[in-house]
Amino acid sequence: MSSTFSVAEANEKLEKLKELRLLKIKEQVPADLRRIHLHPAQAQVAAECKRFNVIDAGRRYGKSLFGIDRCIEPALYKGQPVGWFAPSYKNLADMWREVVSMLSPVMRSKNEVEKRIELISGGSIEMWSMESPDSARGRHYARVILDECAMVKDLMSAWNLIIRPMLMDLRGDAYFLSTPKGRNGFMEMWELGQDPEDPEWKSWRFPTSANPHIHPDEIEGMRKTMPSKAFEQEVMARFIDEVQGALWKLSNLDQYRVSSPPDEFLKIVVAIDPAVSTSSTSDETGIIAAGLGHDDHGYILADSSGTYSPLEWANKAIAQYDALEANKIIAEVNMGGDLVKANLMAVRSTVPFDSVHASRGKAIRAEPIAALYEQGRVHHVGFFPDLENQLTFWSPADDRESPDRLDALVWSLSYLMLTHLKKKARSHQG
Ligand SMILES: Nc1ncnc2c1ncn2[C@@H]1O[C@H](COP(=O)(O)OP(=O)(O)O)[C@@H](O)[C@H]1O
Ligand SMILES: [Mg+2]
Repeated sequence: MSSTFSVAEANEKLEKLKELRLLKIKEQVPADLRRIHLHPAQAQVAAECKRFNVIDAGRRYGKSLFGIDRCIEPALYKGQPVGWFAPSYKNLADMWREVVSMLSPVMRSKNEVEKRIELISGGSIEMWSMESPDSARGRHYARVILDECAMVKDLMSAWNLIIRPMLMDLRGDAYFLSTPKGRNGFMEMWELGQDPEDPEWKSWRFPTSANPHIHPDEIEGMRKTMPSKAFEQEVMARFIDEVQGALWKLSNLDQYRVSSPPDEFLKIVVAIDPAVSTSSTSDETGIIAAGLGHDDHGYILADSSGTYSPLEWANKAIAQYDALEANKIIAEVNMGGDLVKANLMAVRSTVPFDSVHASRGKAIRAEPIAALYEQGRVHHVGFFPDLENQLTFWSPADDRESPDRLDALVWSLSYLMLTHLKKKARSHQG
């Protein structure tokens, strides 16, 4: 007797098998898999999602955690491959740790080098940096997550040429998660999702305060320490135009940004702009580390700024000095340089310290440094969102008081580039 199935019957059997398989996987999932209970604004996205989903949200809204949650369904319960795209190698390393720690109870194997984990269901998560998305070419995914993708250069073409083709075979979907960064490709994507008639694209905007796990004081803290336009962007998640009169341009920072530092430096300094109690707008201490390369170019290496007590910032600066094997710590002498020195010496009396002298106003001091950027002679090694917001959102015309990270950056580069180059020019003449 030959048994023949109709197509409908065959499909029904297949569905049953899938359901059985799913049940089996669910039974195997240990209880200690940390469950993510989506907060209401995340749950809204999960409920309303289409194929291509763009979440524009403030810092710490819960974008990355939501992204991890989105991996679980296809990778764990359906046994499918998922691709995760980070904006930089540094971010990739952080997210890799996070994903591994969350999913370790359901992990079958992991490959640290390839940044690939395989789950007990046979599904996988592969993680890539958008600094070289080409290396992921030829992969097929049921879902891709692009985290902090407003930082990605030419996001639209990377999407169309490299990532979207990865979704064709499995008819996969995509989540674009980011805080905005000016009016760039991420904004274009977000706009696609604003057309309610579009069958494939959907987008949302949420401020940081949509995350009930973030205390309102944290948000107040950001309001106090950020230029107001930066707050609009970083916390309110609005797409902000370039600020008229700002000395730095985001396009310039992006153009000359590098992902790794040169092998050697002529000199490395850590510059401090201490919080001064007389300033009412800001209470951060700027701590910026910069290096001078053999090419006479400046490299911004680290930003350890923050709201600290004097003892804390002395420790931070010395830790930065040690980590980079820097040559010196520097600070302006008029604006508390003596205080800086005394404070540092209290932590470590042998740390080499140099004071710099301010003969001119803050805006005037910043201009030659901004000019070096325009000439393509300063490179940020990776991303420094808070520092870069101060550079691109501060305009001397609006607000005479320049912010602390910016000031520390100006000190570091003045010391390395202006002083050094002057000396070099003199020795050439002589
Ligand atoms: N649904 C949630 N439940 C509990 N905590 C959450 C949730 N979503 C976000 N968080 C917490 O909020 C903080 C910010 O989340 P994160 O995903 O890092 O934000 P973002 O990527 O938007 O900056 C983290 O401490 C995270 O654990
Ligand atoms: Mg994140």
